[in-house]
Amino acid sequence: MAKGFRNLNRAKPQNCGVGLLAVFILVSLTYLTMSRTNKMRVSMGKQSLSVSLSITCPYSSFCLFITHWFSASSQLVPVLSVNSTSIRSDASAGQEEGSHKEEEFEKSSSVHHAEISARSSPNELGGMKLEKKQPRCDLSNRKSDVCEAEGDVRIIGKDTRMVYVSPPQWADNKEGGESWTIKPYARKWDVGSGAHVREVTLKPVKSYGDDTRCSVNYSIPALVFAIGGWSGINFFHDFGDVLVPLFQTAYPFGGEVQLLVANKKPGWVEKYKLYFQKLSKYEIIEFDKDDAVRCFKQVTVGLRCSSIEDFQIEPSKSPQGYSMVDFAKFTRSAFSLERDRPISRGEEKAGKKPRLMIITRARTRKFMNVEEIVEMAKEAGYDVVVTEASEDIAEFSRIVNSCDVLMGVHGSALTNMVFLPTNAVVIQVVPWGNLDWIAGHYFREPSKQMKVSYLEYSINEEETTLTELYPRDHAVFKDPMSVHHQGWDTFSRIFLKEQNVRLDVERFRPFLERALSILREQQRERE
Ligand SMILES: *[C@@H]1O[C@H](CO)[C@@H](O)[C@H](O)[C@H]1NC(C)=O
Ligand SMILES: *[C@@H]1O[C@H](CO)[C@@H](O)[C@H](O)[C@H]1NC(C)=O
Repeated sequence: MAKGFRNLNRAKPQNCGVGLLAVFILVSLTYLTMSRTNKMRVSMGKQSLSVSLSITCPYSSFCLFITHWFSASSQLVPVLSVNSTSIRSDASAGQEEGSHKEEEFEKSSSVHHAEISARSSPNELGGMKLEKKQPRCDLSNRKSDVCEAEGDVRIIGKDTRMVYVSPPQWADNKEGGESWTIKPYARKWDVGSGAHVREVTLKPVKSYGDDTRCSVNYSIPALVFAIGGWSGINFFHDFGDVLVPLFQTAYPFGGEVQLLVANKKPGWVEKYKLYFQKLSKYEIIEFDKDDAVRCFKQVTVGLRCSSIEDFQIEPSKSPQGYSMVDFAKFTRSAFSLERDRPISRGEEKAGKKPRLMIITRARTRKFMNVEEIVEMAKEAGYDVVVTEASEDIAEFSRIVNSCDVLMGVHGSALTNMVFLPTNAVVIQVVPWGNLDWIAGHYFREPSKQMKVSYLEYSINEEETTLTELYPRDHAVFKDPMSVHHQGWDTFSRIFLKEQNVRLDVERFRPFLERALSILREQQRERE
């Protein structure tokens, strides 16, 4: 599904059986390409920095091996590691995930904002405690690089894409220090995505010349990030690469932040304008075209990700304790979605039926027997909405939010679960081909984090239309993993593109019934 699957796939647990040598070669190729294309440069100045090699590899038990092997391989780009314990914060907003309503969430967050500005400590950036004075970049996260600086910050987007900073008490008497060039898009490990992202350089300077005289002075902080990469390709990337990280980075500012967006895609920004309006009270500046010298006292470059997984948040690593429940609440608030819980017993007594949304897909992994599924779902007691995900998300999000159960074949349209009420149910139909890994990482885990109940239905050989294309003794059926090992192109062609689903409604029916009983169990709990 996601473009980056190619790389992820290499590290997935099922591949553990592959010979070590093969893995080492694959990893080495990946890494060398990455270091060539992603060009993460860290030039070292005189300051003493703790430089360490850190490779995060969450996906497999090869982690240790790979880490050791990387450490041994000396030509690697140094990774500046910020001690993660030093960027913890005491802010408590949103820590009790799911335990408070939207308004409370809003309130606790704004209390937090107020605290930040009231303390007006220059060393608190969005609730993050930084070591004093020095601009610094955290390049240790596998998903994104983030730089923070304060002082006399001057930003020039056009041509150079420079963020200069003259820290308040610049200790070194030389001009400047280490500078950092990063791609401020949260898909750092993915070379293909990175090729579409502009680099931004953060450069400390001792003083400014006439060519960097401020055209505009700001009292609010700046946040510079890119929406190049795979954003716009599908809904999953929009959320996983940009919107979820953006929420984590920008929301703590309480609207008082200037967004400077590189690789700005006008249609994309328009599509998600409700998010942007909620995150910043100020109009977005198109970074690449901006030839003004904009002066700030604080800047963040890049988007913060507490989880290295897409479309997930790790509350224990989020300085504000944010969770995906918070993100979903934020989303409902941005889109003015009314329902924060599924159908109540009272509503059912008044004759309302639980609503099931069936996401049909137009091109690939389609349901071949939608009519039959609808009929069965109605028999099971649902009011059924059949739809294909639409581009008009303000409208579509309302339809999703009106539903209690969302079902669809694995694909980015399931990202729409973010609009469901908390405690609604998602049923992911997993196509043939041993797709457990992507099904899990892209939707099973995120749905759990959002406190949406999750059911998973894996189709069998009889339910895939691949039987019309391949004989039953073909590797597609006998050994799907061997198809995975043939690489992304073959894998995606067969399992993601050629395959449609003819659901066995009798086999599937218990899942719809289970979803109903989950809704009813929750009704009892709420009473
Ligand atoms: C990192 O954090 C640990 C645990 O708090 C601490 O003992 C250690 O000194 C820190 N290291 C650095 C380089 O700050
Ligand atoms: C911005 O602030 C600087 C320093 O306070 C001042 O010299 C400059 O005139 C200001 N520029 C504008 C455009 O207000």
